Amino acid sequence: MPDPALFTAETVATMAGPDGGYGLVRQAGIAVRGGRIDWVGPMAECPAEFARAPRTDFGARLVTPALVDCHTHIVHGGNRAREFEMRLEGASYADIARAGGGIAATVAATRAADEAALLEAALARADALIAEGVAVIEVKSGYGLDIETELKMLRVAREIGEMRPVRVVTSFLGAHAVPAGQDADAYVAQVCLPALDAAHAEGLVDAVDGFCEGIAFSPTQIARVFDRAAALGLPVKLHAEQLSHLGGAALAAERGALSADHLEYATDADAAAMAAAGTVAVLLPGAFYTLREGQAPPVAAFRAAGVPIAVATDWNPGSSPMGSLLLAMNMACALFRLTPAEALAGTTRNAARALGLDDCGVIAPGMRADLAVWDVADPAELSYRIGGNPLHARIFGGRA
Ligand code: NIG
Ligand code: FE
Repeated sequence: MPDPALFTAETVATMAGPDGGYGLVRQAGIAVRGGRIDWVGPMAECPAEFARAPRTDFGARLVTPALVDCHTHIVHGGNRAREFEMRLEGASYADIARAGGGIAATVAATRAADEAALLEAALARADALIAEGVAVIEVKSGYGLDIETELKMLRVAREIGEMRPVRVVTSFLGAHAVPAGQDADAYVAQVCLPALDAAHAEGLVDAVDGFCEGIAFSPTQIARVFDRAAALGLPVKLHAEQLSHLGGAALAAERGALSADHLEYATDADAAAMAAAGTVAVLLPGAFYTLREGQAPPVAAFRAAGVPIAVATDWNPGSSPMGSLLLAMNMACALFRLTPAEALAGTTRNAARALGLDDCGVIAPGMRADLAVWDVADPAELSYRIGGNPLHARIFGGRA
C-alpha cells in the first residue's frame, strides 16, 4: 500500500458526528498514513499532500468504519440443532438447560475437541464475519468450565487474530454455567477464579464476563468474579437481565462495566445507572429471536437516559446460531425498533466502546484505517436488507 494513500467515494458515513447520526460526508476523501486515518473530509477541502497521493476511487459506493462484533462465542465445539427441534416441540431454553442440555452440551463438545479442530471451526466463523466487513471480533470463553478448557478456548481465540486480518478481543466467561453436579459457590472459588488467574497470567484475557441469571450465577457470585477482575486490573462486562430481572445490570453499572448485554428485562432504573456509569447496552436480537422472547429490551429508556446502544451477533451454538452482523442490525431495527443509524452506530462506534477500544469504530483522524466499502448508496440499506452481503471491500489497518 502506498503511504500516504487516498481513498475517495461519493459518501462516507464517519459515525463521528456530534448528533450520534451517520456523520455523512459527500464526495469524500479519506487519507491514510501508517495504517491510521490522517484526514477525512470533502475532496474540495483535501490538503495538497493527500490530493497528490496515490488514489483508490470507490465511485458511487458508501464507506463506513469497518464493523465490530462486540459479543460472540465463536470458539465452541459441536452444534445444538437437536435443541432447536426440542424447543419446536415445546421445551424452553431453561428446561433444556436444567435437563443437562444447553450450555452443558456445548461444554462437553468443546472439552472433547482438540485445539486444531476448535480453531478450524472458529476460523470459518471468523471468515463469515470478515466477509461482511468486520474488523474486530470479541470472543468469549465459557464452554470449558474447567481450567484447562477455558485456557484452550482463549488460546484458540488469540490464534484467530494471528491467522486472519482481524483484531480479536477476548472475554473470560468462566462464570457462564454451573457444571453438572457442582455447587455454584464452590465452582466459582475452586475453578472460575483460578482459571481467571491462569488465563490472565498467560495474557489471554482482555475483559471478564459472566452470565447473571437464574440458570447461571447470582449477582453475589458474579460480584466475586468481578472482585478478582478488579484485583487483576481487568475491565468487566455482563450477560444481564436476559430471561428475568436479577440485578445484573445494576451490578454491572456499579462496577463501571464496559457493557451489559441482552437486557430484555432491564428497567428504567437500570438504564439510569448504566448511563451514569457509561456502560454500553449491547442488544442481541439473534438470541431474542431464537428463543422467541416476548419482552424486548427497553430501548426507549436507553435512549432517554443516554445509554450508548451496541448490537452484536452473540454467535453461539444454542441461543443465537447467527453468523451475520448485518442480519443482527436488521433484526435490531425490526424487533427492537432501532433506527438504521442506531444500528450502524451499534456495530461501529458503540461496539468499539463496549470493548473499551478508542482507536476504531469511527472515521476520524488518529483512528485505525479499518474501513468497509459497500455497494450501497444510502447507509440505511445496510440495516434494511434481510440477508445478502453488499460488501465491496474491507480495508484493515490501511490495507485492502
Ligand atoms: O449469550 N446467555 C448466555 N450465553 C449465551 C448462550 C449460550 C448458549 O446457549 O450456549 C448467550 O446467549
Ligand atoms: Fe452471549
